[in-house]
Amino acid sequence: MNRKRTAVLISGRGSNLSALIAAASAPEFPAEIALVLSNREDAAGLAIAQKAGIATCAISHRNFDSREAFDRAIDAALREAKIDLVCEAGFMRIHSDWFPKAWEGKLLNIHPSLLPAFKGIHVQQQAIDAGVKISGCTVHFIVPELDSGPIIAQAAVPVLPNDTADTLAARILVEEHALYPAALRLVAEGKVRLEGGRAVFAAA
Ligand code: GAR
Repeated sequence: MNRKRTAVLISGRGSNLSALIAAASAPEFPAEIALVLSNREDAAGLAIAQKAGIATCAISHRNFDSREAFDRAIDAALREAKIDLVCEAGFMRIHSDWFPKAWEGKLLNIHPSLLPAFKGIHVQQQAIDAGVKISGCTVHFIVPELDSGPIIAQAAVPVLPNDTADTLAARILVEEHALYPAALRLVAEGKVRLEGGRAVFAAA
């Protein structure tokens, strides 16, 4: 099997990274985690990757004077590692328009709301403030417009009356850890692809 060489981009904790590493440790999984890249040297997820024997790379956005210059440095690291697919997992930088175009159809993100509701940051608090009874998480292809790309997969959780942003985030995170590997599998197997601005699913 030709497993897709996959990079995971992180900025922090790396719990979704752990879920992806665990899924990809099964030999029949169609993607391997070949590189973990962070914009922060102190991201806890880098240690998770190193422990798993995965190559890591830290590139600080602070060393670049434009979003595109930073994105081009990430791109160079990804090309150097011969990466096929990229999963953003808590990567808290906004890209230049150039980057999602360069990686069109190969760039995924996980977001802790049911998009297109609640884009940006503090989205669990946004959901509570809006009074929605159901929230969840979304894996989508990344396009230049923030949190707006075609949806690959979603999972829903209830929003309970006494929820805080933290309790809701924890409930959503459990679903994220199952959803992201499932979505990566679909893309790596070619069962969903980005075409004409939509996520097109292969017939079952
Ligand atoms: C996750 O909840 C992820 O959905 C969210 O950051 C957290 C990262 O946790 N991403 C975003 O909000 C992106 N807009 P992790 O580092 O433990 O995977």
